[in-house]
Amino acid sequence: MSTLEVPLANPIGSPKHAQADYYYRIPVRPIYKQYPVYAPGREPAGYMEWLKKQDPLIVWDDASHKPKLETEADWIKAGEIVFSAPQGTSVDQGFIALADVSNAAWYERSGMPITKNGVLPFVNYIIREKGKVELGLFACAMCHTRVMPDGATLKGAQGNFPFERAAKYSSLSHTPAPLLFALNRQLYAVSWLHPDPLDVEKDMTADEMIEILQTIPPGVISRHRASQFTPVQVPDLIGVKDRHYLDRTGLQQQRSIVDLMRYAALNQGVISSPALTASFPPMFPTSKNCLIPPARRWLPTAATATNSFTPWRSMFIR
Ligand code: HEC
Repeated sequence: MSTLEVPLANPIGSPKHAQADYYYRIPVRPIYKQYPVYAPGREPAGYMEWLKKQDPLIVWDDASHKPKLETEADWIKAGEIVFSAPQGTSVDQGFIALADVSNAAWYERSGMPITKNGVLPFVNYIIREKGKVELGLFACAMCHTRVMPDGATLKGAQGNFPFERAAKYSSLSHTPAPLLFALNRQLYAVSWLHPDPLDVEKDMTADEMIEILQTIPPGVISRHRASQFTPVQVPDLIGVKDRHYLDRTGLQQQRSIVDLMRYAALNQGVISSPALTASFPPMFPTSKNCLIPPARRWLPTAATATNSFTPWRSMFIR
């Protein structure tokens, strides 16, 4: 870990990662069976009712469940399960709602691409409790899947999920401005610059902040270590094993598959926000610049055990 990232001339901009003892105490997130999400009018008859009758099914965890891993083809299939395994649900993450994916207006307004078969391949349904169908979000597949103009799906190509528009046109109530600013700060603050470029948002309304995001086209994302003012293009992952330096900045090395796993864990896997698994010197270890108290930042919570995703609304509101 100490040599993972290329050192910067001024180390103030290099992240400090969570300690190993914290990392290894984070419970392993179980992967549930995934069911496709269909656009309105494209679902097989009685699909939702059928889903509601399905038992929760764990396909991979750190106990007794795992897919068959004997042949090369088994491994590829298993990788696909991980690639599309959600890291949060519409309930705890609050970015799009379950109702959105069956609302034709949401597709139209956000310019949401769907496949030839009427599937929305960026998300899926999971069942963690019988009778309760949840929308799984933030799988690798959400950002790293491309639907082509003819409806073909390319897994691992430059993604084209219209992220910012999907959120804007969601039926979820919009996050109040102070919360949105706090969340943006958690992701994009450059606390060693004075003023921090993000501070221009300090007195903005939530609508104004959301409008800034609408300038970002599908395939480009406001991302941690970048920002809504300097969004990055979602790269393709096809052939990623041959790249020695990851991200537009090329800061993270890929010396082996282990580094790729570190990349996934640090950027997406643990709690999805590196602001929670890493911090930048002026923000650490005080909670002055971050609304989340240090105790909650560093200890696995019940929420991490069940979904390993920041239930950020409740954390901020608390
Ligand atoms: C919310 C959208 C999003 C999700 C979800 C996501 N990624 Fe990414 N990914 C990005 C963006 C944007 C970048 C480019 C970052 C940069 O250049 O700084 C990226 C970059 C990468 C890279 C670097 C590729 C390169 O050539 O430099 C890898 C590897 C990667 N992602 C793997 C994953 C994996 C594995 C997952 C699931 C565990 C995942 N991503 C989930 C948006 C996402």
